This record gives sequence, C-alpha cells and structure tokens, in this order.
Amino acid sequence: MQAKPEDSAQIDNFYRWIRAYLADLSRADDGELSHAINFGYWPESCSNLFEAQMAFFDLICSLLAPLGENAHGVEVGCGIGGYAMRLLRKYPVKLTCYDLLQEHLDLTRQYARDHGVDGRLETIQGNSMHMDTFADDAVDFMYCVESSFHYDEKQKFFDEVYRVLKPGATFAYADISCENTAKVAFKSGNHFSAKTELDDYITNAGLSIVEHRDIGPQVYEPLYRYTEYFNDELLDAPAGSDKAKVGKYWDLVNSNYTKLYRQGLMGYQVYKIRK
Ligand SMILES: C[S@@+](CC[C@H](N)C(=O)[O-])C[C@H]1O[C@@H](n2cnc3c(N)ncnc32)[C@H](O)[C@@H]1O
Repeated sequence: MQAKPEDSAQIDNFYRWIRAYLADLSRADDGELSHAINFGYWPESCSNLFEAQMAFFDLICSLLAPLGENAHGVEVGCGIGGYAMRLLRKYPVKLTCYDLLQEHLDLTRQYARDHGVDGRLETIQGNSMHMDTFADDAVDFMYCVESSFHYDEKQKFFDEVYRVLKPGATFAYADISCENTAKVAFKSGNHFSAKTELDDYITNAGLSIVEHRDIGPQVYEPLYRYTEYFNDELLDAPAGSDKAKVGKYWDLVNSNYTKLYRQGLMGYQVYKIRK
C-alpha cells in the first residue's frame, strides 16, 4: 500500500526544499559530503555535523554487530544513502534500502555506485507502514534512523518490522521523541512520540528491547550551536536568498527543539531491539 498521496507529496516537497542546505551543513572540513540526513550524535570529540553523523553511524553499527558474510539487511527510510554506502563498505552484507521517495533511492544507488558497493545493494520504493514487498521472517537485520517521526501509524511500522525480521534478528532504531507535541513550533508532517509510547509500540509488536539510550544530551545543544555557527560563518548564501531562508528556518527548528530538550520535553531515543 502506498502512503497517502498528500503525505508523500508533502515529504517530497520538504526534502527538495531543504536537501541542498542540509548537504552543506553536513559537509566535512575536507569537502566530503556525508549523504546522511540526520541530527548526528555529538560526543565531545565532534566539531561539526559530518563528524557527528559518522559517530552516529558507528553507534548504529555497534548495535547491529556482528554482521556476518551474506547477512541480508534492510535500511528503512534510508534517505540518500550515506549510511547504506558506509555499511556496505564496512561489512560483507547485502542491503535493501527502502524509502518513500524514489528520488532518494536513485541518489542512494548513485552514491553506492560511486563507491563500488552497488553490487550488494537493492532499492525498493515503499511505505514503512506497509512493507508488503518483504516476506515474513525474511531478513537478518534492520535499522531505521530518524525516519519514523514521519510515520502517522507507528504501531503498524513496528508490527511490520516484527513480521519481516527472522526470529532472533536485531533491529537498530533511532529517532526524536517528544513528551508534549503541542509545544513543537513546526508540526506539519511531524509525528513525534513520547518515550513511553515508543516502548509500548515496540513491546506491543512482540519485539524485545535489548538496550536503550537517550542521546538527547549529545544531540540538541551541540547541533543548535553548530547550526548557528554554520549560518553565521560558513553558509555561502546572500541574505534573503532561498538558501539563507532555509538556514533561518533550520535555526528556528533547532532553537525550538533545544528549548524543549532543556525543559525535559524532547529526547533522542536509540534502541537495540530483538525479535
Ligand atoms: C530525515 S531522513 C533520514 C534519512 C536517513 N535515515 C539518514 O539518517 O540519513 C527521513 C527519510 O525517511 C523517509 N520517509 C519518510 N516517510 C516514509 C515512509 N512512510 N516510508 C518510508 N520512508 C519514509 C524520507 O523520504 C527520508 O528519506
């Protein structure tokens, strides 16, 4: 089943609008693009978003490891393939990238091809809440990073994860949580859940939580500081230009989330989950 057309169109328009700015924001000092679209995980050692996204990738890998030869995994909501390419480069696995947007899957495939790992990559367009293309008990691991805040029926998503994973297989899951969505300034297209709601979705699906961390302290404040620095010092865009407007919007989003984080109302939940 497809996502509602209006939801798909809204998500498509949002990423078309913000993607170039986020690519610049997550550029390394040497110019390398991360191809990740997420807030990153910021231990003390990280000085920019690229490093934070790579630290986050390492954290996700630590939850999934060990990944043996020919294990078949699925990245749900893969975006433009930054983690998929790096996972395929790091482990001798096969990976299916699944996303609502065909454009993201095309960019994922191109990025994997540029790095010579596309031979072990498959891409499938679809909706995470209805992953009909996968059989029951089919895959060895799954991961989903900062995508589920788009899903309006999260229980269906976790039920699908349960159905598709082999018994005993691992699912690494990470996303924003919010204890009071009424206080979120930009609500359109966002379906944040409270931490306890996430716990309930996971356990109601029949999945078990093996490990959990709230990395909110290593996300909101450092990302906000870096966004402000980037907009002031590094954003190569004249005031009033489209890019400068996107930067201003992103600064407002981060300011709102950081305020909610300081009030104990926003977190960033990372789970190692098992079927
Ligand atoms: C913030 S990006 C994260 C991308 C990637 N996980 C990363 O960390 O770089 C969210 C992604 O979720 C995808 N997405 C949104 N709703 C979806 C749905 N219902 N089913 C599948 N993917 C979806 C978007 O198209 C987008 O690529």
